[in-house]
Amino acid sequence: MKKQLTVAIIGCGDRGCGVYGRLMHDSFPEEYKTVALCDVQDFKLARYGEAFGVPEESRFSDEKVFFEKKRADLLVIGTQDRDHYRMTVKGLSLGYDILVEKPLTASRKECKGLLAAQKKYGGKVFVGHVLRYAPAFRKAEELLASGVIGKLIAIDALEQVWFAHMAHSFVRGNWRRSDETAPMILAKCCHDLDLLQYYAGSKCKLVSSVGELSWFKPENAPAGATDRCLDCPHVDTCPYSAKWLYIDHWKRNPVYPFTMTVCPARPLTEEAIREALRETNYGRCAYACDNNVVDHQMTVMTFENGVTGSLTMMAFTETGGRIYKFHGSLGEIILDEEKRYVELKLFSKENTKWEFDELGAGDPSVGHGGGDYHLVKELYEMLTENGEERSSLKNSIESHLMGIAAEESRRAGGNAVKVHRL
Ligand SMILES: NC(=O)c1ccc[n+]([C@@H]2O[C@H](COP(=O)([O-])OP(=O)(O)OC[C@H]3O[C@@H](n4cnc5c(N)ncnc54)[C@H](O)[C@@H]3O)[C@@H](O)[C@H]2O)c1
Repeated sequence: MKKQLTVAIIGCGDRGCGVYGRLMHDSFPEEYKTVALCDVQDFKLARYGEAFGVPEESRFSDEKVFFEKKRADLLVIGTQDRDHYRMTVKGLSLGYDILVEKPLTASRKECKGLLAAQKKYGGKVFVGHVLRYAPAFRKAEELLASGVIGKLIAIDALEQVWFAHMAHSFVRGNWRRSDETAPMILAKCCHDLDLLQYYAGSKCKLVSSVGELSWFKPENAPAGATDRCLDCPHVDTCPYSAKWLYIDHWKRNPVYPFTMTVCPARPLTEEAIREALRETNYGRCAYACDNNVVDHQMTVMTFENGVTGSLTMMAFTETGGRIYKFHGSLGEIILDEEKRYVELKLFSKENTKWEFDELGAGDPSVGHGGGDYHLVKELYEMLTENGEERSSLKNSIESHLMGIAAEESRRAGGNAVKVHRL
């Protein structure tokens, strides 16, 4: 019989419980059993405690008490960016295996500290680089490995953030300040940096990056705009209007994820959403927040094997989704998350196209093109059967070193910066 892994989750938010906890509970009940929860918000402990059958005495609101002893086989860390380092080191010292969300840290010293802690205590650590597990991204990997496009020359990656996602997460929301979370290149693009060096098949040597916060600043507010959207004369015309984003969307889709995040009331009502918009950051004018992260950034990189890469992170896009283009001596591979296909275009030959559905990405609402699901599925094998450790700590540190160098380059006006080796 299969060993059922016990799981403790700290950070019972969208990722910790909404994605990983839910998938473990709903899709892999034989493999995992959540036995302890920790969050500073009581309503989340109650909501997920009941959903997963975690007894009240195993629900903790203070991390000190939660970390007094090891409470399960696996620790899932779904707290905010700045907590990951501290909690991973603590969890390792208690003897846990760990799944921790990205980004791990924005500091080289802490990257080193994580590797040292793992060496000292010996637990396994996996990072939430879910796209490494997504079927479409794996298809690209398989095509590259087959050599069908000849020698890989360059990778051109576009991360379309989507204007509404920018306003929600990076102007009003949790990731709006790099000093409180991580710079955009790590917060939003650490998946891309991870994939680029993985696909290049080589470590990154040098990066150069430019980018700015160009638009979401007070001087760009429309004339007469007020500090909060619900009072504003532009409430029905501004593309970044909180009413449009959280109320109008919710009226069309009663489980609209952004609105669910903004307003904890269940059941949701329009009055409860309006109240949240009157009181929280999410109701603030997108031009009058205390945000400082960039709204676009372009990074170019050279890998040790001579492959070159470019990554554009762009807030000003009408849809979300990544578009990756792999250029080889014999053809191209295109992966388009928004249009949901992977295409092989060989020079002077017929093209071949695979839709995401036929690759097994599942329903578009399933996170990260099936990456969330497949990570949780394979995590069990990685923990119990020595499955391939795709997003191990060692593999994942590399993208962080690239992101740290890219941010240094951007701050220095685009100078080329060497990626440090630890
Ligand atoms: N892998 C991905 O693709 C992906 C996608 C989105 C977010 N993320 C990352 O996942 C992490 C969580 O994001 P989220 O959207 O779930 O955020 P969230 O705000 O929904 O969840 C974070 C939770 O941590 C709790 N928390 C804060 N401090 C705590 C403490 N000291 N002890 C216990 N709980 C505490 C909060 O109350 C909250 O419930 C972030 O680091 C984010 O960057 C990863």
